[in-house]
Amino acid sequence: MAKILGIGNAVLDTILTVKTHPKEDQEVRALSKTFSTGGNINNTLYVLNQLGHDCAICCSVATDLEAKQLLKGFKERKLSTAHIQTFIQGKTPSSFITLNQKNGHRTIVHYRELPEVTFEHFAKITVEAFDWLHFEGRNTENLTGMINIAKTFLTHQPISLEVEKPRKGIESLFNQVHLLIFSHHYACEKGFSNGQELLTHIQKDAPNTRLVCTWGDQGVWFADINQRVQHIKAEKIHPIDTLGAGDTFNAALIHYLIQQNSLNEAVNKANTLAAQKCKQQGLDNLLQKIHTQPIANIKQLSNAKTLVTKANEDAPPMVLIKHGDSVKAYQNNCPHQNVPLNEAYKIDVNPFEKTIKCSVHDAFFKIENGECIEGPCRNESLVSMDIRIDEQGDIYLN
Ligand code: FRU
Repeated sequence: MAKILGIGNAVLDTILTVKTHPKEDQEVRALSKTFSTGGNINNTLYVLNQLGHDCAICCSVATDLEAKQLLKGFKERKLSTAHIQTFIQGKTPSSFITLNQKNGHRTIVHYRELPEVTFEHFAKITVEAFDWLHFEGRNTENLTGMINIAKTFLTHQPISLEVEKPRKGIESLFNQVHLLIFSHHYACEKGFSNGQELLTHIQKDAPNTRLVCTWGDQGVWFADINQRVQHIKAEKIHPIDTLGAGDTFNAALIHYLIQQNSLNEAVNKANTLAAQKCKQQGLDNLLQKIHTQPIANIKQLSNAKTLVTKANEDAPPMVLIKHGDSVKAYQNNCPHQNVPLNEAYKIDVNPFEKTIKCSVHDAFFKIENGECIEGPCRNESLVSMDIRIDEQGDIYLN
């Protein structure tokens, strides 16, 4: 469990679910109306809390009646409010959202009339008490100072920055942080037509920063330090609610990096959790579905044969195999051409060399760590999946 400080905005969301999104001048009747506390940082911290972390929110709040609802929401989401800044002038930020039942897409109208967290307020926080700082890329007039001062106190703790929209001066912060998470909105507004183009461009100015760019149903691009830009596809799903999917992705990415996964693994796992989010309404109990069903039992496995299975009907297929007395689990995806390892034929196992072979172009992977040691994607790796085995030998996805 890590202590995480999130700095950004919290808002009250009013969510109207509609059959189809109205055109200008049209009237439609909503199917349902719900209120929820939202805002990217608030949502990201809520998911991080569900992933087992101890989270504190640093945002501004007003003193109107709606602010009470917001504070109640933080409590329910188990976020520490010790670093909130209260403004007597101004109103609670609110967002009015129509959620299209057909495709889960959301359309948002924001109302903002509240100052954002000041530099002076932020400077009083003992940031070195946290293991990770995550900033929303907004409030740029104060952000430069905040990141600067944080860096003077932090020794090893990473700083991540979400870049959702273009904001004046934000580019000067790109080489100041450890992880940048771009959304396609930023990329499009800057004239890039995909994440490959954006990240290749950013790499020049921020060579020591890990880069990620999410692009809805077109998947995710990412580049580790000194590595080429890579891409993974989005999971094919029928979304029912995409509100907060990006926030969920960011939370899962931070979580898996804290757990020492490679950037490649963390992006893949974050992609899976974001897809899970799109298949459910809201952000509550996000992990429940993933946690409850055993994937298999250890008795079904052997050291000489793989089992290709799924955690649940919506989950991506995975490959399980015994390695000594332990079990290894990988996504059933060959990094060479992003096809299932058993696309052409079954997955060959060499129990003496302790390798498995992709049936399409004969790439050999070490069972121990998924590394490709021979074949067309040498040095690339299968994406490992985080599993646990209970006393009955039932295997669960973490
Ligand atoms: C979802 C969200 C909503 C909020 C809006 C703010 O990502 O954080 O909760 O209304 O985006 O941009």
